[in-house]
Amino acid sequence: MRCRRCKGPAVIEVRRHNAAFCRDCFVHHVREQVRRAIEAFDMFGPRDRILVAVSGGKDSLALWDVLLDLGYDAGGLYVGLGIGAYSARSAEFVRTFAAERGAELLEVDLAEEFGFDIPTAGRKGSRSPCSVCGLSKRYVFNRAALEHGYDVIATGHNLDDEAATLLGNTLRWQTDYIARQFPVLPSEEGLLRKVKPLYRLSELETAGYAFLRGIDYVVEECPLVAGNTQLRYKEAMNHLEATSPGTKAQFFLSFLERGAPLFARQDAVDLRPCERCGQPTTGRFCAFCRARAQVLGERLGDPAAAPTDREVAANVSEEVLPAEIYGGGAEGLA
Ligand code: AMP
Ligand code: FES
Ligand code: ZN
Repeated sequence: MRCRRCKGPAVIEVRRHNAAFCRDCFVHHVREQVRRAIEAFDMFGPRDRILVAVSGGKDSLALWDVLLDLGYDAGGLYVGLGIGAYSARSAEFVRTFAAERGAELLEVDLAEEFGFDIPTAGRKGSRSPCSVCGLSKRYVFNRAALEHGYDVIATGHNLDDEAATLLGNTLRWQTDYIARQFPVLPSEEGLLRKVKPLYRLSELETAGYAFLRGIDYVVEECPLVAGNTQLRYKEAMNHLEATSPGTKAQFFLSFLERGAPLFARQDAVDLRPCERCGQPTTGRFCAFCRARAQVLGERLGDPAAAPTDREVAANVSEEVLPAEIYGGGAEGLA
């Protein structure tokens, strides 16, 4: 196999692009895909301060690496979820990366700051651990980014993540979630812009990039993943991809081009400050404060604070994410 770009010996094959690359040209290919994503959606500019949410996994560390190499002002944010040795190891990979690159790293520990961790939330609340995990992360990302003067939040969601989420949203025709499944969520009152610059890269590509760049990352899965429906959709997509390479990219990238405009949201949501924490929400209390109160056994406000339809739906179906903090839509399940 020869490298598509320089014709030297190739070390990695990308079936979707029907191409193979040598190390340097593959790194170039990944950077190009990220650059194109940023440009296509006008995600941020050279003067923006970007906060990369880093889990310690390959995707978010690869993203941080690429953004730093492209010359962006990119800091990292690690959220300590308290998931035993898994969280401890993830944090170590993030700290090592930040120290090696001399990059700013913010750390927020859920238990220290908010009094609960994800395993406890899974046992005590009515939501699945993944559901509380997802909403807690999104809450902390927004809050920390605002507090530290960042302009935009970037996550490491890749093509596999986005295709699987779209499959899940489509199987249930969750049209408001579909409408918001975009690589850019613009800022709204109290909510910073959120971007997914890896949406054009598959999991294999980000793993290859991390490997070839010598980035150490946590390889094991979150131990709470068993009930995660997203994983099943990923497996389903992988089956399709195995027999028809390019299916994932077709599904998601064509959605962005031709499907998404059909679902564009008409209704604007009204956001106001959560009465407990001040973060934006559509109700009296934000989804995070409600979940937290439930786990800690606290009462929030008076009984008049009856649950909205969406809250009821969120509790009935573990797969539906309470989406208030993003103004009525959710971009992912995890
Ligand atoms: P996941 O929710 O695990 O699928 O991760 C999706 C994205 O969320 C990752 O690519 C990261 O950008 C971000 N993320 C996940 N876990 C954490 C964490 N503990 N701290 C900071 N960011 C995270
Ligand atoms: Fe870790 Fe859901 S909480 S995968
Ligand atoms: Zn709140």
